[in-house]
Amino acid sequence: MIAAAIDIGSNKISVLVGEIDAGDKLNVIALGTAPSAGVKKGSISDLDQAAAAIKKALSQAEEQINGQIGSAFVSISSRHAKSINSHGAVSVLTRDNKIDEYEIGRALEEARQVGTPEGYEVIHTTPQNFIVDGQSGIQNPEGMLGYRLEVDAYVVMGLKSNIMNIQRCLERINVEIDGTVVAPLAAGKAVATKEEMEVGVAVVDVGEDSTEIGIFLNNGLWYTSAIDIAGGLLTSDIATILKVPRDEAKRLKEKYGTVLAQNQEGEVTAKGFGANRNVTVSKQYITDILRARTEELFEYVLREIKRSGYDELLTAGVVFTGGTSKIPGFLELAQKMFPANLPIRLGAPIRTTGEHGRKASSPEFARVVGTLRWGLQGHDRPEVRESSGSSGPFWKRARDFLKPLLPY
Ligand SMILES: Nc1ncnc2c1ncn2[C@@H]1O[C@H](COP(=O)(O)OP(=O)(O)OP(=O)(O)O)[C@@H](O)[C@H]1O
Ligand SMILES: [Mg+2]
Repeated sequence: MIAAAIDIGSNKISVLVGEIDAGDKLNVIALGTAPSAGVKKGSISDLDQAAAAIKKALSQAEEQINGQIGSAFVSISSRHAKSINSHGAVSVLTRDNKIDEYEIGRALEEARQVGTPEGYEVIHTTPQNFIVDGQSGIQNPEGMLGYRLEVDAYVVMGLKSNIMNIQRCLERINVEIDGTVVAPLAAGKAVATKEEMEVGVAVVDVGEDSTEIGIFLNNGLWYTSAIDIAGGLLTSDIATILKVPRDEAKRLKEKYGTVLAQNQEGEVTAKGFGANRNVTVSKQYITDILRARTEELFEYVLREIKRSGYDELLTAGVVFTGGTSKIPGFLELAQKMFPANLPIRLGAPIRTTGEHGRKASSPEFARVVGTLRWGLQGHDRPEVRESSGSSGPFWKRARDFLKPLLPY
């Protein structure tokens, strides 16, 4: 199956088209990008501007495939999602008390009944732990015998108005939504290995307006969070302190920026405001500005990871991705600031092939690549469908949404 995904980022829009091949590689058939407009902090602030920007990226991808994209998977920021840990319990009703997919589906369905707050809808349910007749710590109870089946689950609810705004925006350019994934789950699917997700990893996507954190354990999403510090703030810091226009600040950051180097030599000249006004500044000063804010970012990331309560369980540590993770010295500074026993690495989308596979394997495309993977690999789409009216037989839905959730 070929499908498309759209990431409506604060810095850029990306549209990806691809399919998964036999070796679980993502064959990237098209990748269109355009500078973002009408998007602030992960939500659409101007429908017309955003639609026009998305259209540009979409047209580019459409040219590459020589066809039209009528629908796509999308993601929402975890700022616009609420998540809770929930519990479901059912009596096993099979004749021989053997637990099957249907019974697991019923337990998860129970866990999903969380009393969704006004304006939210459930978009993901991840089982964390199954309990059979009081025995806890079971990853997959299928085939076991028992009378009572319980499940601890992580339930993510998306803000409906946010999803509807994306929908409205895409309607204007004749694109339907195939499914909605929460951003950190998408980023994780793109950059983390199966083993990392199994043993425990935090994936941190540092973009323009947001840093999105997702924590994965036992192959599932267990925690999400968003922080307001990211690349856009680094740009603003340079613009404000050096009194240069934002575009110029961004150029300086991307061309000369590092977050670690000391005793850097040389100066750079930037265009300032006013007539013929140039600003000359030492490279070291730019580094000092960038370093201060990046250190603050790492402090917040660490705090969030601790707040999750899973910090001791992250055997595979932290994987950083997103455009801002490309700044030189990023990993080294993180290593200085994070506890020495926490493994850290930079991550970019893995296992991408095809004509645009190489381009898509850059950190800023983590979210769109993961959105497409999530969409193609089986996902909890029936839950999304259910909230928008249609359903289908329950056992089928249970089977559909279990497939991606179960570890095997
Ligand atoms: N080589 C680089 N050095 C420094 N910063 C970089 C580099 N490349 C990209 N960036 C920064 O990365 C940021 C954009 O990252 P990304 O494309 O992941 O954001 P986004 O997905 O559009 O935004 P968000 O996820 O916050 O909505 C910008 O601030 C950009 O300046
Ligand atoms: Mg992003």
